[in-house]
Amino acid sequence: MNHVRARGSGRLTTAPRLRAALVSIATGAVALGATVAVASSASAGTTLATSAAEQGRYFGTAVAANKLSDSAYVGILNREFNMVTPENEMKWDATEPAQGQFSYTSADRIVSHAQANGMRIRGHALAWHSQQPGWAQNLSGSALRSAMVSHVSQVAGHYQGKIYAWDVVNEAFADGGSGARRDSNLQRTGNDWIEVAFRTARAADPGAKLCYNDYNTDGQNAKSNAVYAMVQDFRSRGVPIDCVGFQSHFNSASPVPSDYQANLQRFANLGVDVQITELDIEGSGSTQADNYTRVTRACLAVTRCTGISVWGIRDTDSWRASGTPLLFDGNGNKKPAYTATLDALNAGGSTTPPTTAPPTTTPPTTPPPTTAPPTTPPPSGGGCTASVSLQSWTGGFVATVRVSAGPAGLKGWTVGLTLPSGATVTNTWNAQNTGTSGSVAFRNLSYNGTVGAGGSTEFGFQGTGVGPTALPSCAAA
Ligand code: XIL
Repeated sequence: MNHVRARGSGRLTTAPRLRAALVSIATGAVALGATVAVASSASAGTTLATSAAEQGRYFGTAVAANKLSDSAYVGILNREFNMVTPENEMKWDATEPAQGQFSYTSADRIVSHAQANGMRIRGHALAWHSQQPGWAQNLSGSALRSAMVSHVSQVAGHYQGKIYAWDVVNEAFADGGSGARRDSNLQRTGNDWIEVAFRTARAADPGAKLCYNDYNTDGQNAKSNAVYAMVQDFRSRGVPIDCVGFQSHFNSASPVPSDYQANLQRFANLGVDVQITELDIEGSGSTQADNYTRVTRACLAVTRCTGISVWGIRDTDSWRASGTPLLFDGNGNKKPAYTATLDALNAGGSTTPPTTAPPTTTPPTTPPPTTAPPTTPPPSGGGCTASVSLQSWTGGFVATVRVSAGPAGLKGWTVGLTLPSGATVTNTWNAQNTGTSGSVAFRNLSYNGTVGAGGSTEFGFQGTGVGPTALPSCAAA
C-alpha cells in the first residue's frame, strides 16, 4: 500500500510511459484498488502536521525557547508541526521563581512563535511535584495549597484564550502496583488537591481543555487503573476534566505496551479526549520505526485521540539524547522513524476521524460558571470596581475577583464581599482576608496594591458552601 502510494505520488512527475501503465492498471481488473491508491497519493500530506490534519489530528513537539534562534531547528519546527508544548518554560519554577512574582518571558516567546506560525499550544504543567521553585518546595499545608491555587489561577489566567489544552496536573500517581497517589508536598495538602487544581484552572481559562498527564500509564496496569478511577470519579462528580495525556516515553525497559490502543480507548470511553503528549522511543532503524508506526496507528484508531506530540525535534534536542529517541537526527535529517510515522498518518486510521470542528472550538465539557459575575457600579468616589467570577460545585467554589482601577489608579485596595450563610473561605491568594464567613474583606498584598489608571489585578479565594452572589464593594486605600 505504501509502496504503491510512493509510486503513485511519483506519477505526477514521471515519464508518460509509467503514467500510461498506471492508467491501464486503473482501467483493468484491479481498477478499484489502483484508483484508491492514486487518489490517496494525491491527497497525502508531506509533513507530519498536514498529514495529521488530514486525519483530524494535530502533530506537535516540545519546544525549548532558547532554540528559537537556531534556524535549522526553527525550519523543521515550522515545516512539520502544528502544536507546541513548552518543554520547561511554563513549569512552576520558570513561571513563579519567587512567590507572587511571575516570569513569562521565555514561555511568551514560545507562545508568540506558535501564534505567528499558526500552531496551537499545549500548556505544561500547572501543578506537579517536580520542577517546583525552592520556595514552594519549602511550603506545606494550607500555605502550599493556597500557593498552588494562586499559581494555577495566575498562569492559566495569563494565557487565557491561548491554550488548546493544559496539563493541569502532572504525574500525581505512584509507580508500581499500589495504585496510590504519589507522595509529594502537594499530595500532603489533602487528596482533593487535584480537583481543586482543575476547578481553579477552569475558572481561569474556561476555553482550554484540561488534562491529567502521566507516564507508565500507557498500558493497563495498577497505575493507569488508578488514573482511570480518578477520571471516572471526576466525570461523575462534575470535576472539570476534558482529557488525559499519555506521555509515552518508551525504551527497551519500557516498551510500547501491547494494549496501548485498548488503553487509550478505555479512557476515551469515559468521555474525555486522549492525547499522546511526550512521545519518544529510544532505538534506531526499523525497530524504532515500527514502534512509531504502532503508536501512530493506535492514536488514529481511537476517535477521541486528538493528536500526538513528540518530546523534541532532533535526537540532540532530546532530554534522553543518548537514546536517539526522536524523528530527526542531530543534523535535522529525517530518520526511518519519521518516514514510518508520516506513512502511518497518510494510511489513515481504522476509525473515522473526528468530523467536528477543531478541538479549540469545542466547549468545555462542564458548563461555565452559571452565576452572572456581579460587578460593582462605576467608581463612586472609591476609585475602583470589582467583579467576581465563580466556579461552583456541590459543596464548594473558587472565586476569582478582578479589581479594576478608576482614572486615578490605585495605591492599595480593599474588596468587601458578603458570603451566603454557611459559606466559609478556606484559601485566599493574592490578597489578605479579614474574616472567613459573613462579611469578608480582602486587602491587597505588598506586590499588587499599585494598579495604574484603567488597569486591573486579580485575586482569588476558595471556599466551602455556596459562593458569593451579592455585588462586591471596592475601595481604594
Ligand atoms: C523534562 C525536560 O525535557 C527536561 O529538559 C527537564 O530537564 C526535565 O523535564 N515528564 C514531563 C516533562 O512531564 O516535563 C519532562 O520534561 C519529561 C518527563
